[in-house]
Amino acid sequence: MFILVNLKTYPCDPVAVAEAVRDVDEKTDARLAVAPQDAHVERVAATGVETWAQHVDPIDHGSNTGHALAESLAEAGAEGTLINHSEKRLKLADIDGSIRAAERAGLETIVCANNPAQIGASAALGPDAVAVEPPELIGTGTPVSQADPDVVEDAVDAADGVDDDVSVLCGAGISTGEDVVSAADLGAEGVLLASGVAKADDPAAALADLVDPL
Ligand code: G3P
Repeated sequence: MFILVNLKTYPCDPVAVAEAVRDVDEKTDARLAVAPQDAHVERVAATGVETWAQHVDPIDHGSNTGHALAESLAEAGAEGTLINHSEKRLKLADIDGSIRAAERAGLETIVCANNPAQIGASAALGPDAVAVEPPELIGTGTPVSQADPDVVEDAVDAADGVDDDVSVLCGAGISTGEDVVSAADLGAEGVLLASGVAKADDPAAALADLVDPL
């Protein structure tokens, strides 16, 4: 299982969380990574943890004030990027452009989507993976695998129907090892999660719990 911890703009210590993720990653067969804010990518990557960007723009070097350039994030140490997160929505053409920008910079890609129909459309653009995250469950602590298992299974079917090389992850409300196992049972190859770790009193303990049953 791939477990990607998205730190969003939560006021946690990104380096401390990164070190905890790195330490858990070294002790488990699961693959763990962290997606900090752009400004923290370099410091997080320096811990040795697998580091992801939260977004890249569909741009090249040039006159693009305030944008996130894939090459700059890769140089800072990012190995992959989320695209079209529910909190950073893009139009279809821009999702395509962002995937191409990420590929150009050698970044792995996960395109997020709200529902199975969007998962199918996203898979058709050829990312490495897609992630279904019902927006109404994000940050609630109620896991998508329990509240809406059909959306995960339907997302897996939708992606497989387009391109079975595209991996499917799920996210929203996931915070325990049991949630991760349920996601795997529904066909997901990984999970995205944020508040369960970034807002935990003890992120290291939360991470240990996540991988405990794996
Ligand atoms: O990117 C993962 C995120 O949107 C899920 O958030 O807080 O429900 O784990 P959370």
